[in-house]
Amino acid sequence: MNLNQIRQDTKGLSDNKIFLNNAGSSLMPKVVVESMVDYFHQEEQFGGYEVANRTATLLEEFYEETAKLINCKLSNIAFATSATDAYTKALSSIVFKEGDVIITTVDDYISNQITFISLQKKLNIKVIRTKNLSDNELDLEDLENLIKKHNPKLIAVTHIPTNSGLIQNVEGVGKICRQYDVLYLVDACQSVGQMVVDVEKIDCDFLTATGRKFMRGPRGTGFLYVSDRVLEQNYAPLLLDMRGANWTEYDDYELFKTAKRFEHWEISYGSLLGFMEAVKYANNIGLDNIENYNKNLSGKLRENLKNSGFNVWDWGNKLSSIVTFCEPNGELENIQKVLKENNIFFSVTYKNSALIDFTNKNVNGIVRLSPHYFNTTEEIETVSEILKNSLK
Ligand SMILES: Cc1ncc(COP(=O)(O)O)c(C=O)c1O
Repeated sequence: MNLNQIRQDTKGLSDNKIFLNNAGSSLMPKVVVESMVDYFHQEEQFGGYEVANRTATLLEEFYEETAKLINCKLSNIAFATSATDAYTKALSSIVFKEGDVIITTVDDYISNQITFISLQKKLNIKVIRTKNLSDNELDLEDLENLIKKHNPKLIAVTHIPTNSGLIQNVEGVGKICRQYDVLYLVDACQSVGQMVVDVEKIDCDFLTATGRKFMRGPRGTGFLYVSDRVLEQNYAPLLLDMRGANWTEYDDYELFKTAKRFEHWEISYGSLLGFMEAVKYANNIGLDNIENYNKNLSGKLRENLKNSGFNVWDWGNKLSSIVTFCEPNGELENIQKVLKENNIFFSVTYKNSALIDFTNKNVNGIVRLSPHYFNTTEEIETVSEILKNSLK
């Protein structure tokens, strides 16, 4: 990994800020921004349809690069405008009936939980959450028992929650889902881009991701992976448009074969192109390199914070590049003040975004630092030292 080159490619670092909010919205490499600016200039000259036609081959590379990123075929990839867009389209393709069961975890993302509760209220389905093991990972034995007891329609697991460093054992869940033939949806919004994510190993039916976080793409982008298994069974979004099907009869249509049937016809091709460049950029560095590097940085940061006396809230067997903490008395105010004063970028998560996890941990909120491969060990040491001094 050529860190100097990577930092030169990241114009946002030129004013000496320390950027540690990659789990929020990261800094785009300049090639991503330049590709979009150039595309929009072309649209200014020729109009969107003409430019999309002229650029068709390049735009298709989005599917190739994304398929390479998560180890699948390009026919399994759909562009999405956010992780939530991908998630809700996947969910909408499952026909839920009264009494159906969704099994999820206590650590799944706030919007997923709200969507499940909405389905529970509107369609009378049942939402059940697995227990956690003592190390905070979801309990696979409990999951298996719940499957046997409730015969669920769907298992939904967030790979890395927004509010803690936990990495769930999504491969372990995948094996159980296959054994019992249950649909399996993985929210990989925080994992894609920061570590190797391999859909063949996870063996899921749907996987969702966003562009702007660890992928370093533009806002308004994301993708959905759809397995062959599900495509062959004609799963498609509930509210399909002409991107998804061919209108063959007055009252009938024929679904298109690939995961593109989960897209809408109208999208921002300039943003898709920018996202393609971001995926290509990550692929060129190599996700295994990124994962190893990130593990080192976040491990070091966590250790420093603990040694300085902060309460670090990342519980799990395997931890990610999301580091969450507060002062020993639970306070967040002073940490935020000091970070802002020192031009260090971070984010804060409050209890309503992680209701069950933070209730269990008995915290009202946490500060989140999320290093990525363009950060240096020196930056981690600087931030650790500044925070350590803030406690005195
Ligand atoms: C774990 C997780 N899932 C889903 C999302 C939603 O992503 P988007 O805002 O792109 O829909 C987020 C955003 O923070 C997230 O952290």
